[in-house]
Amino acid sequence: MSSVDTIEEAVQLKRANFKQAAGHMDSLTRKQEQRETEGDVRVENPRLRCNDVNVYYGEKHAVMGVNLDIGRNEVIAMIGPSGCGKSTFLRCLNRMNDTIVGCRVTGQIFMDEQDINASGIDVVPLRATVGMVFQKPNPFPKSIWENVAFGPRIHGLAQNKAELEEMVVTSLQRAGLWEEVKDRLEQPGTGLSGGQQQRLCIARTIAVNPEVILMDEPCSALDPIATAVIEDLIDELRELYSIVIVTHSMQQAARVSQRTAYFHLGNLIEVGETTQIFTNPVHKLTEDYITGRFG
Ligand SMILES: Nc1ncnc2c1ncn2[C@@H]1O[C@H](COP(=O)(O)OP(=O)(O)O)[C@@H](O)[C@H]1O
Ligand SMILES: [Mg+2]
Repeated sequence: MSSVDTIEEAVQLKRANFKQAAGHMDSLTRKQEQRETEGDVRVENPRLRCNDVNVYYGEKHAVMGVNLDIGRNEVIAMIGPSGCGKSTFLRCLNRMNDTIVGCRVTGQIFMDEQDINASGIDVVPLRATVGMVFQKPNPFPKSIWENVAFGPRIHGLAQNKAELEEMVVTSLQRAGLWEEVKDRLEQPGTGLSGGQQQRLCIARTIAVNPEVILMDEPCSALDPIATAVIEDLIDELRELYSIVIVTHSMQQAARVSQRTAYFHLGNLIEVGETTQIFTNPVHKLTEDYITGRFG
């Protein structure tokens, strides 16, 4: 191939990229409006059922009329361009948006027969049942043992020391960390590697008997090896819990999830089986995103 061909190709590619970028800018500046979701938002016997969930930050309508079920023993991935509302929606599921001044949530989220947004719901047990793991591992400045024992203690889950001990051990085992820390439980959690700290945070979440675990980009601060360990762990944890994971990595979504939800400008555009979303998306916006045309 001559160098001219290469340059022409390069120019063509640049033009195409520019057009796509312009299209993307256009879609960002267009007035945000609510859209219908493609795909089946409902599952049989859901763990959580969201009906017309909206989130506002002051005037800004950040999540628009989302209807979505979270199944039992599934990993569902939330993907979409930065700022599309993934984290905001995730925080609805355990009422973490309550902690943000100026943030308002409407709609219903049913867990069994109970709407978690109903007045009179105690958010403390709710946030144990629907636990959360954050982007940056955030162990308490306490020992490894104390990090895990803390939750069961404040929730009064253990009758005695032996029971508490068992909860700590089981949680560390389920989080795939036990073998690495069993001889250093009194050492500070903050002294562990990033990947170990994240598994410690997962153990801490598991220790209070969650049914759902929310993960907001849990691997984005980790190296590829630590990421692979967490991804394997997520797959194992699915046997016991429902997992909702926000990820900016489509490869990660494809690797760990059974269903994928694609968000765009506050709308849930499409949801479906992960393989279908990545190989045969219905909506043009989903296709543009997964083929890397923008994002
Ligand atoms: N605390 C906040 N106050 C005001 N606006 C916010 C706040 N958090 C998020 N937003 C806005 O809401 C929209 C969705 O944000 P977010 O849920 O963080 O998106 P994502 O997680 O998909 O990147 C963005 O436009 C963002 O700027
Ligand atoms: Mg986010």
